[in-house]
Amino acid sequence: MPALIFLALVSILLTLYPTVALNPSCAPGGNFDLSPWELQLPTGSKGNPDTEFPSQLEGCGGYEDNKRLYFFTGSGDGALVMKVPGSPASSGCVTTPNSKHCRTELGEINPPNWDPNASINRLTVSLAVPVPDNSDQGTVIGQIHIDESISTKPICELFYSSSGTISMGVEQTRSGGNEKVIQVGSIPVNTTFSYSIAYENNVLSVSINGGTAQILSTYRLNAPLSYFKVGNYNQGDDPSEVHFFSINVEHS
Ligand SMILES: *[C@@H]1O[C@H](CO)[C@@H](O)[C@H](O)[C@H]1NC(C)=O
Ligand SMILES: *[C@@H]1O[C@H](CO)[C@@H](O)[C@H](O)[C@H]1NC(C)=O
Repeated sequence: MPALIFLALVSILLTLYPTVALNPSCAPGGNFDLSPWELQLPTGSKGNPDTEFPSQLEGCGGYEDNKRLYFFTGSGDGALVMKVPGSPASSGCVTTPNSKHCRTELGEINPPNWDPNASINRLTVSLAVPVPDNSDQGTVIGQIHIDESISTKPICELFYSSSGTISMGVEQTRSGGNEKVIQVGSIPVNTTFSYSIAYENNVLSVSINGGTAQILSTYRLNAPLSYFKVGNYNQGDDPSEVHFFSINVEHS
């Protein structure tokens, strides 16, 4: 009997906590494979944000900011937490030369870029957004970006708003500035969900919570070399906070 009770308890726990437990006493690099990613922070000098390379992020003793302002492990949930204090005007945060907005965001650098005509290019993320920014479309929680040698613009940006609306903006051309935005889901604020963004066989799609992949037009983009981004790219004036529970990227 005790053995049966034990097995029953184990199966209940596995149902409640299906993913590998996150260790709250490790930096994010102890819980997540950060080897593909470079971190960009909302700090640094004007036009030149601080960055951390994969070798600085990896492992339980990897980078986190000890004041728990931008990039750290959540003490309660063990999540990889990314926070942004607001806009340059409201908080004095730092942006890249090509952006008006601040971010705490991972950008893929291993590989540095990939061909959207290949058979698998997929980013799958589990997260909750306890504090979206106050802009209309909200915080950008995932992106595909065109290789910097071709354009400073994204292919697409996945937004999460303060009403829980998830929408995808897709640029129509490589020179950009003409993003078309459509709603792709709705999840209450501070609720765990997953998204998957794929750009493979020259088809862009997004899926929310493992649902049917919604195919999105890529207009005249024509599959330029691209890379993924995942994080908290604030579009408003007030702070934003995103908690990540898993981040996986696949290519073949
Ligand atoms: C992918 O295929 C399209 C259509 O054939 C082509 O225009 C584009 O240059 C290709 N992309 C890459 C990165 O080779
Ligand atoms: C989000 O949910 C978590 C877990 O339920 C809770 O501890 C936290 O206080 C919530 N955060 C906000 C900003 O509501």
